[in-house]
Amino acid sequence: MCGIVGYLGKQQAAPILLDGLAKLEYRGYDSAGVCVYNDGFCVSKTVGRLMNLSSKIDGGAALTGHMGIGHTRWATHGAPSDVNSHPHIATNGKIGIVHNGIIENYLSLKLFLTEHGKTFLSDTDTEVAANLIEYLYEEEGDLLKAVQMAAKQMEGSYALGIMCIDRPNAMLAVKKDSPLIFGFGEGENFIASDVPAILKYTRKVVYLNDGDMVDFTADGATFYNSLGEEVSKTPENITWELSAAEKGGYDHFMLKEIHEQPKALRNTICPRIKDGRVRMDYLTLTEDDLRGIRRIYIVACGSAYYAGYHGKYILEKICRIPVEPMLASEFRYADPILDEHTLVIIISQSGETADTLAALRQANSLGARTLGIVNVVGSAIAKAATDVIYTWAGPEIAVATTKAYSTQLSVLYLLALYMGDLMGTLSTEEYDAMICALQALPEQIEQTLTAEKLAAIKDMAYDCRDNHDVFFIGRNLDNPTCMEGSLKLKEIAYVHSEAYAAGELKHGPISLIEENTLVVAVAGVEELFDKTMSNVKEVKARGANVLGVTTENMAEEICKTVDRCLLVPQTHPLLQPSLNIVPLQVFSYYVALARGCDVDKPRNLAKSVTVE
Ligand code: F6R
Repeated sequence: MCGIVGYLGKQQAAPILLDGLAKLEYRGYDSAGVCVYNDGFCVSKTVGRLMNLSSKIDGGAALTGHMGIGHTRWATHGAPSDVNSHPHIATNGKIGIVHNGIIENYLSLKLFLTEHGKTFLSDTDTEVAANLIEYLYEEEGDLLKAVQMAAKQMEGSYALGIMCIDRPNAMLAVKKDSPLIFGFGEGENFIASDVPAILKYTRKVVYLNDGDMVDFTADGATFYNSLGEEVSKTPENITWELSAAEKGGYDHFMLKEIHEQPKALRNTICPRIKDGRVRMDYLTLTEDDLRGIRRIYIVACGSAYYAGYHGKYILEKICRIPVEPMLASEFRYADPILDEHTLVIIISQSGETADTLAALRQANSLGARTLGIVNVVGSAIAKAATDVIYTWAGPEIAVATTKAYSTQLSVLYLLALYMGDLMGTLSTEEYDAMICALQALPEQIEQTLTAEKLAAIKDMAYDCRDNHDVFFIGRNLDNPTCMEGSLKLKEIAYVHSEAYAAGELKHGPISLIEENTLVVAVAGVEELFDKTMSNVKEVKARGANVLGVTTENMAEEICKTVDRCLLVPQTHPLLQPSLNIVPLQVFSYYVALARGCDVDKPRNLAKSVTVE
């Protein structure tokens, strides 16, 4: 949600800002703007896609200047409109800012500032931040001091890029709870919400911590911590290529990322298995700690929550510890009972989801052990958790997650094996069988993504494109897979769909089944196959059109009953969800295409959900 970028150097700023913003489009936005310094602030902003902004300023050529800030906005305070778009300039024209985050106490600050002569054009909290900094600057006569004071007064989250009319060769940036990186160039420097925005220009970046501020020119940067003390920062070298964040010949990022799943799984799994054993020695969780764990919570939002929901079945089966999956937005207000005998596993692709981050902080403050499963290196959640296991999915650009979800599942398998091994709850045979199966998963995913299989799914998707209500049913591990399959269809194809534990259907929802209602039945748990088939027969008897998903070894039985069937290879029973989800991702993708939807940027959604 929202992206910011800033440039200061010898090149023209505007084209670099536009280019950077294009790389941040994935975060979700409804308007965009830039401000370039040229003996004053030159601002251009507009509602809608970035291309509107680009044509308004002739690809950047219409705004000349070597220092500037840019923004993509996902509306929170005030509707998407030109006037609410960023950058915002304070009342006396001294301060120009871009902001990612939410200033929660903006109303009281606005009242105070209005009483002190400041005026407001927009409905945004950001304009309040700009005026607060300007007010304090006018009072103190020192911009650094003003920004530090403003940072103390603002409640909520912010990554701010700040220009001051009196400092034509310097820019400031400050952050709390919203991501911000600083990029070191040669005679030029950058700020951005994420690495792809500046990777074309530099690989040397610093991930700023909460409370950090950076004051920079084209030739240097000074960093300060939350106490205002000068601190030194060592840049990290980004090793991945920009092509990882580009479409690379695919029509959509989502399709590319679906195809990247085997590689993402290999990168996540292989380095962690040595000599047939899972190695996670870098975790601070010891054997004694694990023996003391009485309960595990898995906390996340959306797809990450569904990945975590599988963890209940996997970890309980292997480690024999009660596991409770919880939505982060519920967990944080549920007054959870946590102590040092509770392990809270936090799952997040972006590492910056507001509810998930808040839940993690709560778990930390209540003394629980916390372990993050995170994709974005250096993100807020990765930093705040006691331990972190990275999913090496690479940058995920499509709003609908696919490869990050798959790698989250794979980390849960690894973690279960690691813990089961330490705790001695797993037989050698079972351990070895799971290791073998885990190592074979990437290749098996490749087998589900052959051109022939994709073509068959595409045909089915086109046939199903006009269904208004779809039901996903499955038991045990297939239940969270259904939830994820249903979410995919909802979010990118705008088709109403619901997921039910198959056994629950006759306790209510079956009354919604009528002639030709589409039911997707996932029957991947072999020991429950007959039970799921009974539920399939119940909906068939009421006229449902059933699409079955199962393993090749159970194909014969299911194909007799359902209307269409999607088959996946068989693996270890606990790992089967990793294969079952793939045709459901592809199905949603093609239904979305058939319905003419914007697959990579579904309406109303943002990649990083940094608001409650
Ligand atoms: C759905 C999707 C979302 C995210 C959720 C959590 O395809 O991507 O449901 O899973 O917003 O995001 P992260 O994992 O970044 O915390």
